[in-house]
Amino acid sequence: MFPPGTMRGFTVKYAYILLANVDGNFHAVTAVCPHMRGYLPIGMLEGNIIKCPVHGSQYDVTTGKLVKDVPGVLRVLTGGGSHDLMSYPVSVEDETVYVEI
Ligand code: FES
Repeated sequence: MFPPGTMRGFTVKYAYILLANVDGNFHAVTAVCPHMRGYLPIGMLEGNIIKCPVHGSQYDVTTGKLVKDVPGVLRVLTGGGSHDLMSYPVSVEDETVYVEI
């Protein structure tokens, strides 16, 4: 367990998972940015929005949805934009967080 407003990265069965605590509720998404593989757990979490530390794409950690893509010029220079993250079901039992992958 970790406090609201924070996130952690885990590797589970070869999957990179980001687990975030948003207002006491845990949410899990893919920890690697689809744009150019930025490691999202070292990015910023503000409310329910994760900001990629590499080029700044933003995702809603509660759904995995892309909410802000990289700027158009960067999409051209890097060969494309980003897309939604995969999200995983989370449950909590007796102070233990379970992520279904
Ligand atoms: S690697 Fe995440 S926005 Fe480019």
